[in-house]
Amino acid sequence: MTAGPPPGRAAVIVGVGSYVPPDLVTNGDLVTRLDTSDEWIRTRTGISTRHMVAPGTATSDLAVEAGRRALKSADDSQVDAVVLATTTPDHPCPATAPAVAARLGLGGVAAFDVSAVCTGFLYGLATASGLIAAGVAERVLLIAADAFTTIIDPGDRTTAVIFADGAGAVVLRAGEADEPGAVGPIVLGSDGDNAELITVPGGGSRHRSARQEPKPGDEYFQMAGRATYRHAVERMTEASRQAVGTAGWELSQLDRFAAHQANARILQAVADRLEIPDERRLSNIERVGNTGAASIPLLLAQAAERGELRPGHRVLLTAFGGGLAWGATTITWPDLGH
Ligand code: UT7
Repeated sequence: MTAGPPPGRAAVIVGVGSYVPPDLVTNGDLVTRLDTSDEWIRTRTGISTRHMVAPGTATSDLAVEAGRRALKSADDSQVDAVVLATTTPDHPCPATAPAVAARLGLGGVAAFDVSAVCTGFLYGLATASGLIAAGVAERVLLIAADAFTTIIDPGDRTTAVIFADGAGAVVLRAGEADEPGAVGPIVLGSDGDNAELITVPGGGSRHRSARQEPKPGDEYFQMAGRATYRHAVERMTEASRQAVGTAGWELSQLDRFAAHQANARILQAVADRLEIPDERRLSNIERVGNTGAASIPLLLAQAAERGELRPGHRVLLTAFGGGLAWGATTITWPDLGH
């Protein structure tokens, strides 16, 4: 599916913010409790450190911090809706977004969650853009936050070394499709036939209706790494080509490539296929790992802060994850006063 905004009602980014919890986990820390090595983790994933929530910290705590920072960086802190993309809501019911909106002092506005695992930010961007295009909202706070380590089996070396916690957020307002910050055509896709490649088997209606005792490990995130890897490269490459083409851009015109930080080797494979030179590839996976839905806005916020992402840059965003679900879009980075 590809959708572009109708004339005059594009969603335009006017604020960005991010947050990672203070506790840092190094590869050395993981080596003390898992059958792995610093060398394996660095060469196979590109990760050296990642952040992890302290006991008792929930997704909403990360979301509130990132949301507050995005609102502060925006020209006006008022919004009509809060959309939260997350795989790790505070509770199975209700959605986490209303509590986040209330804690941000935005109580009363529309607030709901979007569930698209690591593609959550792009699905959230499409949802927020849709609210704006339909005239339901003039301004939307989109937050993507995951306390991913809360669903990871600490003893599973294939997932425990990759996944981490964090949050990123953007403020969007109604504007014109040709102004800086306007969200370009959004490409989204899914493949439920391969849903079992990434899953938390327990805790949902499938198991609960059977009233069976859960199997050990069913409460944890499970991923078929190799197969997921192949789908990720293929889908992000394809979606990226579509988004760039629909935007009327050439791949060679891209200034920055901002992909979901799944694994450094996946990012390299996609960027190589798209022939994006090294110096145009944004990455923070070495420091923050794979933060699920939060990955792209966390990357954008940190890159803007470090001056790696500058006003006027033509940026390609792409993501892939559980569902399976994937997406891509383009943005000309706005001047947010960094
Ligand atoms: O966020 C969106 C969705 N997720 C992704 O896109 C992640 C996709 N997948 C990956 O990033 C990679 O597949 C992993 C990092 C999970 C695994 O890397 P890989 O290069 O695909 O390794 P593999 O699964 O093919 O395993 C190779 C070997 C195996 O040992 P044998 O069977 O060859 O003896 C694994 O048991 O590496 C072993 N292995 C490890 N060894 C040391 C797996 N994890 C580890 C580990 N430390 N942490």
